[in-house]
Amino acid sequence: MISSRTLLREEIEHVWNIDRSEVADNIYRFENGTLVLRPADSQPFSAGWPPGEAKKSTPILRDCFDRGGWFYGAFEGGELVGVVVLDNKRIGKYKDQLQLKFLHVSRSYRQKGLGTRLFELAKATARGRGAKRLYISANPSENTVNFYLRLGCAVAAEPDQELFDLEPEDIHLECDA
Ligand SMILES: CC(C)(COP(=O)(O)OP(=O)(O)OC[C@H]1O[C@@H](n2cnc3c(N)ncnc32)[C@H](O)[C@@H]1OP(=O)(O)O)[C@@H](O)C(=O)NCCC(=O)NCCS
Repeated sequence: MISSRTLLREEIEHVWNIDRSEVADNIYRFENGTLVLRPADSQPFSAGWPPGEAKKSTPILRDCFDRGGWFYGAFEGGELVGVVVLDNKRIGKYKDQLQLKFLHVSRSYRQKGLGTRLFELAKATARGRGAKRLYISANPSENTVNFYLRLGCAVAAEPDQELFDLEPEDIHLECDA
Protein backbone atom coordinates (compact mmCIF):
# COMPACT_ATOMS: atom_id res chain seq x y z
CA MET A 1 0.00 0.00 0.00
CA ILE A 2 1.27 3.45 -0.87
CA SER A 3 1.49 6.01 1.92
CA SER A 4 2.56 9.60 1.56
CA ARG A 5 3.93 12.41 3.70
CA THR A 6 6.20 15.43 3.64
CA LEU A 7 9.92 14.67 3.39
CA LEU A 8 12.58 15.57 5.93
CA ARG A 9 15.65 17.51 4.79
CA GLU A 10 17.89 14.48 5.35
CA GLU A 11 15.66 12.44 3.03
CA ILE A 12 16.33 14.66 0.03
CA GLU A 13 19.14 12.39 -1.17
CA HIS A 14 16.67 9.49 -1.35
CA VAL A 15 15.03 11.06 -4.39
CA TRP A 16 17.88 9.60 -6.46
CA ASN A 17 16.61 6.11 -5.56
CA ILE A 18 13.56 6.78 -7.72
CA ASP A 19 13.80 4.79 -10.93
CA ARG A 20 13.96 7.70 -13.40
CA SER A 21 14.44 5.50 -16.44
CA GLU A 22 12.30 6.35 -19.42
CA VAL A 23 12.54 5.76 -23.14
CA ALA A 24 11.00 8.61 -25.07
CA ASP A 25 10.39 7.90 -28.74
CA ASN A 26 9.22 11.43 -29.36
CA ILE A 27 9.96 14.78 -27.81
CA TYR A 28 8.21 18.12 -28.04
CA ARG A 29 9.79 21.31 -29.37
CA PHE A 30 8.29 24.76 -29.15
CA GLU A 31 8.63 26.12 -32.68
CA ASN A 32 7.00 29.19 -34.22
CA GLY A 33 4.63 29.57 -31.33
CA THR A 34 3.41 26.00 -31.29
CA LEU A 35 4.25 22.59 -29.86
CA VAL A 36 5.66 20.17 -32.43
CA LEU A 37 6.35 16.48 -31.81
CA ARG A 38 9.64 15.17 -33.26
CA PRO A 39 11.43 11.81 -33.06
CA ALA A 40 13.94 11.87 -30.19
CA ASP A 41 17.57 11.79 -31.32
CA SER A 42 18.94 10.72 -27.94
CA GLN A 43 17.78 8.89 -24.82
CA PRO A 44 19.28 10.76 -21.86
CA PHE A 45 17.13 8.91 -19.31
CA SER A 46 17.10 5.37 -20.69
CA ALA A 47 19.40 4.15 -17.89
CA GLY A 48 18.02 6.35 -15.12
CA TRP A 49 19.42 9.62 -13.78
CA PRO A 50 22.20 11.02 -15.97
CA PRO A 51 25.69 10.75 -14.44
CA GLY A 52 26.39 13.55 -11.97
CA GLU A 53 22.73 14.49 -11.49
CA ALA A 54 22.65 13.70 -7.77
CA LYS A 55 25.84 15.67 -7.10
CA LYS A 56 24.64 18.64 -9.13
CA SER A 57 21.04 18.78 -7.97
CA THR A 58 21.13 17.75 -4.29
CA PRO A 59 22.46 21.18 -3.17
CA ILE A 60 19.86 22.89 -5.39
CA LEU A 61 17.08 20.88 -3.74
CA ARG A 62 18.49 21.56 -0.25
CA ASP A 63 18.50 25.31 -0.98
CA CYS A 64 14.90 25.00 -2.11
CA PHE A 65 14.02 23.16 1.11
CA ASP A 66 15.78 25.82 3.22
CA ARG A 67 13.78 28.67 1.69
CA GLY A 68 10.53 26.90 2.55
CA GLY A 69 10.03 24.60 -0.44
CA TRP A 70 7.42 21.86 -0.02
CA PHE A 71 8.72 18.31 -0.42
CA TYR A 72 6.24 15.46 -0.50
CA GLY A 73 6.91 11.77 -1.06
CA ALA A 74 4.97 8.59 -1.79
CA PHE A 75 6.35 5.43 -0.20
CA GLU A 76 5.77 1.74 -0.58
CA GLY A 77 7.28 -0.51 2.07
CA GLY A 78 9.65 2.26 3.13
CA GLU A 79 10.83 2.82 -0.44
CA LEU A 80 10.40 6.28 -1.97
CA VAL A 81 8.49 5.75 -5.24
CA GLY A 82 7.30 9.26 -6.07
CA VAL A 83 8.28 12.81 -5.14
CA VAL A 84 6.92 16.25 -5.80
CA VAL A 85 8.57 19.55 -4.86
CA LEU A 86 7.02 22.99 -4.89
CA ASP A 87 9.44 25.89 -4.66
CA ASN A 88 8.56 28.72 -2.29
CA LYS A 89 10.16 31.47 -4.40
CA ARG A 90 7.56 33.72 -6.04
CA ILE A 91 8.16 34.21 -9.74
CA GLY A 92 6.47 35.83 -12.72
CA LYS A 93 5.75 39.45 -13.58
CA TYR A 94 3.33 39.77 -10.65
CA LYS A 95 5.28 37.45 -8.35
CA ASP A 96 2.16 35.33 -8.06
CA GLN A 97 3.54 32.04 -9.41
CA LEU A 98 5.28 29.13 -7.71
CA GLN A 99 7.39 26.59 -9.58
CA LEU A 100 6.65 22.89 -9.53
CA LYS A 101 10.33 22.12 -9.21
CA PHE A 102 10.40 18.33 -9.26
CA LEU A 103 7.91 15.57 -10.01
CA HIS A 104 9.05 12.03 -10.50
CA VAL A 105 7.40 8.66 -10.17
CA SER A 106 9.43 5.43 -10.30
CA ARG A 107 9.00 3.63 -13.57
CA SER A 108 7.05 0.62 -12.31
CA TYR A 109 4.63 2.90 -10.41
CA ARG A 110 3.66 5.05 -13.41
CA GLN A 111 0.30 5.03 -15.20
CA LYS A 112 -1.59 4.36 -11.98
CA GLY A 113 -2.61 7.90 -11.11
CA LEU A 114 0.20 8.64 -8.63
CA GLY A 115 1.72 11.47 -10.69
CA THR A 116 -1.69 13.11 -11.01
CA ARG A 117 -2.26 12.84 -7.26
CA LEU A 118 1.13 14.41 -6.45
CA PHE A 119 0.54 17.16 -9.01
CA GLU A 120 -2.91 18.00 -7.58
CA LEU A 121 -1.51 18.10 -4.05
CA ALA A 122 1.22 20.51 -5.18
CA LYS A 123 -1.40 22.66 -6.86
CA ALA A 124 -3.51 22.78 -3.69
CA THR A 125 -0.41 23.63 -1.67
CA ALA A 126 0.46 26.45 -4.09
CA ARG A 127 -3.08 27.76 -3.75
CA GLY A 128 -2.84 27.54 0.03
CA ARG A 129 0.33 29.62 -0.15
CA GLY A 130 -1.49 32.31 -2.06
CA ALA A 131 -0.15 31.56 -5.56
CA LYS A 132 -2.35 32.19 -8.59
CA ARG A 133 -0.37 30.04 -11.05
CA LEU A 134 1.90 27.03 -11.10
CA TYR A 135 4.97 27.18 -13.38
CA ILE A 136 6.52 24.02 -14.80
CA SER A 137 9.76 23.62 -16.73
CA ALA A 138 8.86 20.23 -18.15
CA ASN A 139 11.04 17.53 -19.56
CA PRO A 140 10.15 17.59 -23.29
CA SER A 141 9.34 13.86 -23.58
CA GLU A 142 5.97 13.11 -25.18
CA ASN A 143 4.72 11.29 -22.10
CA THR A 144 5.64 14.12 -19.72
CA VAL A 145 4.24 16.98 -21.76
CA ASN A 146 1.03 15.07 -22.53
CA PHE A 147 0.67 14.39 -18.80
CA TYR A 148 0.76 18.13 -18.01
CA LEU A 149 -1.46 19.11 -20.94
CA ARG A 150 -4.05 16.57 -19.81
CA LEU A 151 -3.95 18.20 -16.38
CA GLY A 152 -4.83 21.59 -17.84
CA CYS A 153 -1.38 23.12 -18.25
CA ALA A 154 -0.57 25.26 -21.29
CA VAL A 155 2.57 26.75 -22.76
CA ALA A 156 3.66 29.64 -20.54
CA ALA A 157 2.59 32.97 -22.00
CA GLU A 158 5.78 34.56 -20.70
CA PRO A 159 8.49 32.00 -19.88
CA ASP A 160 10.52 32.83 -16.79
CA GLN A 161 13.85 34.02 -18.21
CA GLU A 162 15.99 32.51 -15.47
CA LEU A 163 14.31 29.11 -15.67
CA PHE A 164 14.28 29.21 -19.46
CA ASP A 165 18.03 29.89 -19.55
CA LEU A 166 18.62 26.93 -17.22
CA GLU A 167 16.56 24.49 -19.34
CA PRO A 168 16.04 25.90 -22.84
CA GLU A 169 15.09 22.48 -24.22
CA ASP A 170 12.31 22.08 -21.64
CA ILE A 171 8.71 22.94 -22.44
CA HIS A 172 7.76 25.84 -20.17
CA LEU A 173 4.19 25.45 -18.97
CA GLU A 174 1.81 27.05 -16.51
CA CYS A 175 -1.64 26.47 -15.09
CA ASP A 176 -4.03 28.02 -12.59
CA ALA A 177 -3.26 27.02 -9.02
C1 LIG B 1 5.35 12.38 -15.79
C2 LIG B 1 5.12 11.43 -14.61
C3 LIG B 1 5.42 12.16 -13.30
C4 LIG B 1 3.67 10.99 -14.59
O1 LIG B 1 3.46 10.13 -13.46
P1 LIG B 1 2.41 8.93 -13.48
O2 LIG B 1 2.33 8.40 -12.10
O3 LIG B 1 2.70 7.98 -14.56
O4 LIG B 1 1.10 9.77 -13.82
P2 LIG B 1 -0.42 9.24 -13.90
O5 LIG B 1 -0.46 7.78 -13.69
O6 LIG B 1 -1.22 10.09 -12.98
O7 LIG B 1 -0.80 9.64 -15.37
C5 LIG B 1 -0.07 9.11 -16.47
C6 LIG B 1 -1.01 8.56 -17.48
O8 LIG B 1 -1.57 7.38 -16.96
C7 LIG B 1 -2.98 7.43 -17.11
N1 LIG B 1 -3.56 6.75 -15.96
C8 LIG B 1 -3.78 7.27 -14.74
N2 LIG B 1 -4.32 6.34 -13.94
C9 LIG B 1 -4.42 5.22 -14.69
C10 LIG B 1 -4.90 3.93 -14.43
N3 LIG B 1 -5.40 3.58 -13.24
N4 LIG B 1 -4.80 3.03 -15.43
C11 LIG B 1 -4.30 3.35 -16.63
N5 LIG B 1 -3.84 4.56 -16.94
C12 LIG B 1 -3.90 5.48 -15.99
C13 LIG B 1 -3.33 8.87 -17.11
O9 LIG B 1 -4.53 9.11 -17.82
C14 LIG B 1 -2.13 9.49 -17.80
O10 LIG B 1 -2.28 9.55 -19.18
P3 LIG B 1 -1.47 10.64 -20.06
O11 LIG B 1 -0.51 11.37 -19.16
O12 LIG B 1 -0.77 9.80 -21.06
O13 LIG B 1 -2.51 11.52 -20.63
C15 LIG B 1 5.97 10.14 -14.72
O14 LIG B 1 5.74 9.56 -15.98
C16 LIG B 1 7.45 10.37 -14.56
O15 LIG B 1 7.97 10.39 -13.44
N6 LIG B 1 8.16 10.50 -15.70
C17 LIG B 1 9.58 10.65 -15.72
C18 LIG B 1 10.03 11.90 -15.02
C19 LIG B 1 9.43 13.16 -15.56
O16 LIG B 1 9.44 13.41 -16.75
N7 LIG B 1 8.95 13.99 -14.63
C20 LIG B 1 8.46 15.27 -14.94
C21 LIG B 1 9.62 16.22 -14.85
S1 LIG B 1 9.13 17.82 -15.41
